Amino acid sequence: ETKPRLPVIYLNLQECTCCTESLLRSAHPLIADLIFNMISLDYMEPLQAAAGKQAEEIRLKTMKDYPGAYLLIVEGSATLGDGGVYCTIGGKSSTELLKEVANGAAAVIAYGSCATNACVQGAYPNPTQAVPIRKVVKNKPVIDVPGCPPIAEVITGTIVHYLTYGKIPELTNLGRPKAFYQHRVHDNCVRRAFFDAGQFVESFDDAGAKQGWCLYKVGCKGPTTYNACAITEWNDGVSYPIKSGHPCIGCSENNYFDNTPFYTR
Ligand code: SF4
Ligand code: SF4
Ligand code: F3S
Repeated sequence: ETKPRLPVIYLNLQECTCCTESLLRSAHPLIADLIFNMISLDYMEPLQAAAGKQAEEIRLKTMKDYPGAYLLIVEGSATLGDGGVYCTIGGKSSTELLKEVANGAAAVIAYGSCATNACVQGAYPNPTQAVPIRKVVKNKPVIDVPGCPPIAEVITGTIVHYLTYGKIPELTNLGRPKAFYQHRVHDNCVRRAFFDAGQFVESFDDAGAKQGWCLYKVGCKGPTTYNACAITEWNDGVSYPIKSGHPCIGCSENNYFDNTPFYTR
């Protein structure tokens, strides 16, 4: 409470903005508390009141006043195709903007699967040559927070850890916060007892589905997906895809769009 609020620049690159939507639903901490009391969110296109020249001036002022001290959060992938023309912000390619802002940041959070593995834009045939943020930002610590989108409390929890301890959290070997990504969804799944007992849903809406049996045979990727869904759950701990009857499609894993059993090319 006594610390000055941490300046944060949030860039929205190639994305669908659902990661922003998820962030705005954080209950612990409440998003209003985070934005108004804990950080100084100086630049974020979907939320800022300013626009155009005025908004870009605020970004430049934060970069000038807090060199090496602000946090950069990036939602969306970078694009390398044709000089980065497929996503431009303020008259420059978003990849150029990313490099510029990352240069003065203390650390970078790549938020969402678009930012960590290029997600849907990077899926075959990847027409814009979309790449993860860490492929462009090589001179700063990059924290990967994958998911399509991630759970709100996973991103706000990562930010609050940085605010509280002044350093990035302990990461897995894939560069993700260990507190949220060390377990497979399968490890703590609500349907796990049915998996162990060999009771599987064979087709949607069969008798096993009505009993809440394991979804492995209808494509569940929970055994190979590292995410907090089965522990933290969504919407302030209400549910997660498997609990609601849908197999995990592995949305926090690299190239999940090309590997999912549900979207075929
Ligand atoms: Fe949207 Fe998924 Fe990309 Fe987030 S990771 S911006 S939810 S497509
Ligand atoms: Fe594992 Fe998926 Fe079955 Fe849950 S539904 S126990 S995550 S295979
Ligand atoms: Fe994504 Fe699987 Fe969780 S699809 S939301 S990681 S249950």
